[in-house]
Amino acid sequence: MENIEDFQFPHTFVLLGASGDLAKKKIYPTIWYLYRDNLLPKNTKFIGYARTKQTIQEVREKSKKYMKIRPGDESKLEEFWDCNDYIAGSYDKRIDYELLNQHISKYEKGLVANRIFYLAVPPTVFQDVTVNIKNACISIKGYTRVIIEKPFGRDDVSSEALSNHLACLFREEQLYRIDHYLGKEMVQNLMTIRFANQIFSPSWNRENIASVLISFKEPFGTEGRGGYFDDFGMVRDVMQNHLLQILSLVAMEKPVTLNPNDIRDEKVKVLRHIKPIELNDILVGQYVGNPNGQGEEKLGYLDDPTVPKDSVTPTYAVAALYINNARWEGVPFILRCGKALNERKAEVRVQYKDVPGDIFEGHTKRNELVVRVQPGEALYLKLMCKSPGMKFDLMETELDLTYSMRYKETDVPDAYERLILDVFTGSQMHFVRNDELKEAWRIFTPVLKQLEEQQVKPIPYVYGSRGPPEADSKLAEYDFKYSGSYKWQKPTMS
Ligand code: NDP
Ligand code: BG6
Repeated sequence: MENIEDFQFPHTFVLLGASGDLAKKKIYPTIWYLYRDNLLPKNTKFIGYARTKQTIQEVREKSKKYMKIRPGDESKLEEFWDCNDYIAGSYDKRIDYELLNQHISKYEKGLVANRIFYLAVPPTVFQDVTVNIKNACISIKGYTRVIIEKPFGRDDVSSEALSNHLACLFREEQLYRIDHYLGKEMVQNLMTIRFANQIFSPSWNRENIASVLISFKEPFGTEGRGGYFDDFGMVRDVMQNHLLQILSLVAMEKPVTLNPNDIRDEKVKVLRHIKPIELNDILVGQYVGNPNGQGEEKLGYLDDPTVPKDSVTPTYAVAALYINNARWEGVPFILRCGKALNERKAEVRVQYKDVPGDIFEGHTKRNELVVRVQPGEALYLKLMCKSPGMKFDLMETELDLTYSMRYKETDVPDAYERLILDVFTGSQMHFVRNDELKEAWRIFTPVLKQLEEQQVKPIPYVYGSRGPPEADSKLAEYDFKYSGSYKWQKPTMS
């Protein structure tokens, strides 16, 4: 890990694919926030690189509407753009990278200088870009780190080919594979909740927990970008990476230390205990238009002109995974994700078993620990209490830690901000290691192949609904009980 004193040396952050969507919507705003908050090394130069011929002024214009500028930030913003350059060049010609190298070198005064390359480029040019960085742009007087974005292949074979390709060019310590869910506040909090609280440790196991439900919901569909999505589908887009990463943090054993490799060793270990998903343990869905909806909601996935008319690509999926170890044998971990649903939500629900030896005539409901990742970070534990007053009735209630109420002054940073800063400080704790990726594909590849080879028809669900009704029965099959009786009362502040 880099010492903070190293922040005195020049750093260059090269954004490849600087003309693209991710760059303008996410990466430029993120580096601006880090710069604005003085979190980066003082002497950092940012260079955008892509094929499009444009000026840095044009890059600035395109990213403008995605960057929050607070009153008083104006001069800092000018300073930020003064530290930015843009160079147009091909992705496949070494000569262009040699020119890029010369350009970077101009700013590298002194004995030490570090370089970070962010690859916001499509998979089609990934190989060329990495080879050319290695051949022409490696730092000769400091570190070189490479940040890469998914997709990391589309099955076990293609992912392994990609990993082997990268391993020929860079050491694992140089590679920062982004799964942006690992940068989210409550995902990072999972380890703290579990390992810094004695109250949870003794019950975090098959003796006490009935099932774990990890959900991702989005209220919009592919909106004209289905052409890209159709090749991947919901399982590859969200379940195999974001949800499986969350699962590994919920289920792993306590790491030896907080060292990134100790943590990642435990994540890999728990993944190795999971057998590949079987076809009857997954249910897939695809959204159809809602005739009573507004605008986009009227359109189904197959109405997207970039999607083949007979596509069976899932836009929704529920799958149950079993961890065959002493802690978790028999406990279903249910992963559930979908687009064009009724709400935006990502959460973990740890559902405890029914109370044994019931003396309350069947009125007790299961305890549930809910970790809400978004929107609005919260941690709440649903539990039974006596209803206040003279009666001796049971009541469902909760212990509630809602961040917006408890930590009013704290601005929770965006996932990308944390992760990009981690690359500068050299912490790989929240990045995906090669062997984690391999395990993820081992678990998912066979069922993805079966779904595709057998052309399994996804169950239709209406845009804006909670998903296919059959999914609820699937949850019940995996011992997730929904009673519908819990009513939350938003606390009122006096
Ligand atoms: P509930 O037990 O009431 O669960 C409600 C959720 O269950 C629904 O949103 C739905 O989510 C799911 N559901 C509905 N029907 C079924 C079914 N047939 N089978 C299985 N699942 C079903 O409790 P919640 O924990 O969701 O709390 C209710 C509300 O209170 C939520 O809006 C929550 O955000 C809020 N709350 C907020 C807190 C806070 O902000 N701190 C604290 C506590 C509660 P889905 O569509 O995802 O399946
Ligand atoms: C991406 C998926 O990884 O995550 C997108 O490719 C999805 O399809 C996005 O919309 C969701 O991220 P977030 O942070 O908005 O929940």
